[in-house]
Amino acid sequence: MADARIGTRSLLALLGDWRLPASGPSYLALFDRIRLLVLDGRIAVDTRLPAERDLAQALGVSRTMVSAAYRELRDAGYTQSVRGSGSVTRLPGRAPVGGHDISGDFIDFSKATLPAYPGLFAATQDALSDYPAALTTSGLDPFGELVLREAVAARYTERGLPTSVEQVMITIGAQHAIFLLARVLLGRGDRAVAELPSYPHAYEALKAAGARLVPVTVAAAGTSDDGMHGWDAAGLSQAFARTSPALAYLMPDFHNPTGESMPAELREQVLSDAARQGTLVIADETSGELDIDRAGSFLPFAAYGDAATAGSAIMIGSVGKTVWSGLRVGWIRAEPAIIRKLAGARFAGDLGTPVLEQLVVARLLRDFEPVLALRSAQLREGRDTVIRMLGERFPDWRVPRVDGGLATWVNLGAPISSQLALAARSRGVLITAGPRFGLDGAFERFIRIPIGYQLGELERGLDALAESSGSLAHAPVPPAELFADVV
Ligand SMILES: Cc1ncc(COP(=O)(O)O)c(C=O)c1O
Repeated sequence: MADARIGTRSLLALLGDWRLPASGPSYLALFDRIRLLVLDGRIAVDTRLPAERDLAQALGVSRTMVSAAYRELRDAGYTQSVRGSGSVTRLPGRAPVGGHDISGDFIDFSKATLPAYPGLFAATQDALSDYPAALTTSGLDPFGELVLREAVAARYTERGLPTSVEQVMITIGAQHAIFLLARVLLGRGDRAVAELPSYPHAYEALKAAGARLVPVTVAAAGTSDDGMHGWDAAGLSQAFARTSPALAYLMPDFHNPTGESMPAELREQVLSDAARQGTLVIADETSGELDIDRAGSFLPFAAYGDAATAGSAIMIGSVGKTVWSGLRVGWIRAEPAIIRKLAGARFAGDLGTPVLEQLVVARLLRDFEPVLALRSAQLREGRDTVIRMLGERFPDWRVPRVDGGLATWVNLGAPISSQLALAARSRGVLITAGPRFGLDGAFERFIRIPIGYQLGELERGLDALAESSGSLAHAPVPPAELFADVV
């Protein structure tokens, strides 16, 4: 039986103007919209849909029409009739509950990551010699292992941001850091500035803490119709001045999914705006060191503050993108008082970060340049391949030439992103449609293409995408109004 359910009002809000375009039977339009919502993760798998009668009443349509739409959903594998629960959402071809194992030959472009760093196995073996000393402790330190905190502090210092051990807490990856910060620093109904588009799980963490999101746009170079690129600097300033947000969650570099880097002057402006409003700025630099060939270099975000403003910046880092996501080791750099507060609050959710992984990361961080050099070479090759292959297959798409990060944010020229993702799935490619990176259905003209995959995989994936795109000619296109781009 499904625990989760979506109420009629929430579904109505997600459906928006589902009847557009007006051609074709209404039940197919309703089917199509709900299908895309499930596919895009806007309605979670294993969620009970409203009863047909209730939905029909709320939409002001006949029950027969809603029944027909529900039947289509069932026949296409997007719902299942569960005794006692009505229609429960599913993804076609997936295990019913918690079914994240993607069987067979799927290419998973939904994750912008790199394969595990080849030196990780040897580093893990080396770290075993540090393990016996750790085994004499309780292994439960909410701040993290001292050796790793020292290594993180030393690395920030080396990169131009003097940092003490008291300013560092080790977390279970950057995602844990975002969630913990949101939970501790936000009250229900507080405003939180967030970029649009952004990393979807950050939106989720901020919303889970009760935030009201204040979006500020970021555009990838060469993809917007009006030539804008990077951050809407005026919009960002206004967002601080008008809403006095408790928090701002930003990715100064490399922004996910656009690959943009925030200019130095804007970093200074953000920190002074934030200090003026009493806002804390979370700078998520999880991808910050994945530089390919960027002109110039940036210091860690907090280094752009002065004595009065630097304290507003809270930094998040991780080895998830540089070494391996499976390590689950990240960190927070903040004022010691904030670190202590976080440590106190942490126990409600977890009791610490696994120790062996921390010892491994401490070793790697002490000599990190080889890791970054390899990643830079891999990403350069991936980026150049993606640009070449997309250019050959999709001459109309606008593909930014990113100079770092793990993905490129491509303008498809038409609002087809969800349809394309759907068609690609049946050809063995999992890819996340543009709206997943936005709020309220925006970005249907965009798709995120990861650049960290090996050449063979990129080729297979992009070929399948080309075939999928060719098959779209007769598919219903989502209404442009509903998915209007904001960039
Ligand atoms: C911007 C950003 N922050 C945080 C994370 C999560 O990283 P971690 O694997 O360290 O939890 C990701 C992963 O995709 C990300 O892109």
